[in-house]
Amino acid sequence: MIDIGTGDGLFVSECARQNPRKFYIGIDANARPLEKISEKIHRKPAKGGLPNVLFLQAAVEDLPSELDSVADEVHVHFPWGSLLGAVANGNEAVLRNLRRICSRDALLEIVIGFDPARDVAELSRLQIPSLSLDYIDSCLAPRYEKSGFAIIERGVLPQSEWTRLQTSWARRLGVRVGRSLTYIIGRALDEKIIRSQA
Ligand SMILES: C[S@@+](CC[C@H](N)C(=O)[O-])C[C@H]1O[C@@H](n2cnc3c(N)ncnc32)[C@H](O)[C@@H]1O
Repeated sequence: MIDIGTGDGLFVSECARQNPRKFYIGIDANARPLEKISEKIHRKPAKGGLPNVLFLQAAVEDLPSELDSVADEVHVHFPWGSLLGAVANGNEAVLRNLRRICSRDALLEIVIGFDPARDVAELSRLQIPSLSLDYIDSCLAPRYEKSGFAIIERGVLPQSEWTRLQTSWARRLGVRVGRSLTYIIGRALDEKIIRSQA
């Protein structure tokens, strides 16, 4: 499983603890939040060490080729900046990078939390028109499909369910009223289907 924009790596480390037979990779463009957790995973298991985890500093725009086809699951939780702009606008180059690291039939989960009033300036800077379900169906779905993902589910999660998401930003934003949380689930399409659409 690969978590892009992993931040402090909480989601990756919680999943890795619960599923010791599965391998987890957390990636973030910023090395700073990765420092503490990258040191912790190398401790002895009794002291919080996790042999089934790796953290990498990389931008989604430039993922290393060693990751090609390795992931059954790719997650993007509470993206901001260029990562938010790419997934919310359906940037083809970035989505193709995400598709490249997926194995056959892999799942892509994107969770975006935003406050239409507070985030208005950032949404306009990133040229994100809206995140309505209609926008996802009519504009994003064709872009995702062209880049290698079929959107198989999308929706809005009530704030009461945010705590189910084990990420630091879900905890941080979950206490603020007015935010809504939109999720998109995609399935990696067969390479042949993508080529025939190109
Ligand atoms: C709001 S934080 C969310 C962190 C974590 N996923 C969580 O839910 O707690 C957004 C993260 O996306 C990362 N990010 C932004 N643009 C990125 C990019 N182009 N490539 C990779 N990571 C990026 C940021 O460095 C930041 O750590």
